Amino acid sequence: MGVIASAPAKVILFGEHFVVHGEPAIVMAIDERVYAETDHRDDKRIYMCSKNLSLSGYFEDDVFHAGQGNVREARLKFAPLKLAIDKVFEKHGEDVGLDIEITSAVPVAAGLGSSAAVVAAVIASASALLNVEMSRETVFRLSYEAEKIVHGTPSGVDPAISTFGGTLLFQMDTGFKPLDVKVDVPLVIGYTGVKRSTRVQVTKVRDMKCKYPRVIEPMMRAARELVLMAIDALKNGDLLTLGELMNINHALLYGLGVSDESLEWLVNAARKSGALGAKLTGAGGGGCMVALARSERLQQVQEAIRSAGGSPLIARKTDEGVKVEET
Ligand code: MEV
Repeated sequence: MGVIASAPAKVILFGEHFVVHGEPAIVMAIDERVYAETDHRDDKRIYMCSKNLSLSGYFEDDVFHAGQGNVREARLKFAPLKLAIDKVFEKHGEDVGLDIEITSAVPVAAGLGSSAAVVAAVIASASALLNVEMSRETVFRLSYEAEKIVHGTPSGVDPAISTFGGTLLFQMDTGFKPLDVKVDVPLVIGYTGVKRSTRVQVTKVRDMKCKYPRVIEPMMRAARELVLMAIDALKNGDLLTLGELMNINHALLYGLGVSDESLEWLVNAARKSGALGAKLTGAGGGGCMVALARSERLQQVQEAIRSAGGSPLIARKTDEGVKVEET
């Protein structure tokens, strides 16, 4: 029997993209989890398999050998996990053979942080199997290192939330601070079905900032103000204000050029059906949007997103970050 660990997906409520440029963001872990099961092997291979993506392959002497699925895709998905496993081996003092199986219902390349959650779950399961002491801070640090292979210059917000869970205020220079959110924040996430690359979206924003610094810099300051006001709204349970702030945040992201037609459809459908606010979440360019609604309106918003062609999901906050599952 192997060791199973899990980590949560996330939704960014405020501040995506701006966070890469040093501004704060508010992010919430949601009750959609990814699972990694790690077991010993008799040989020295690191065998990896992602059940939902139908991808598999193994590393032997650092060389990747494809199994099931597209070779390039498998290498891209598994390379960050191999880096994370190498770090676990450094702490273990020896390389061993491992079977790693990933199970996740979280859509990939959709803005819900699935890649960071997979890395955190793999680190936790492998280190538990090998009896390697691993603090949450170390899981975060290693996940962040691995995330850099996937996204180039990530802020670290995704690995932080998959590791620690809850609701976090995150900023690159000061790190993260848990926010004590007592009220229910009823959310519907809408998946456009359009996959996109975080790296491409982040580069797009960087180029915009270089080209129009005097326009983009005030937008950065506005994004900061939104986060500061949203902290108060969250504390006071003021959903109306929170919704309005989300709408403004979406307008800023639209201005940065990271929304697209698929997102606009879903954002507008959610607002028309009575959502208090709606915005894209994550890197944009497809992926997911998130709508805030009063509890009694959730079903209506969910239906509107479905009718507009999206896949809706009612998201609940979870305080549980990465953890080893009881067996
Ligand atoms: C991705 O979930 C959020 C971005 O702000 C990138 C990052 O923070 O690393 C777009």
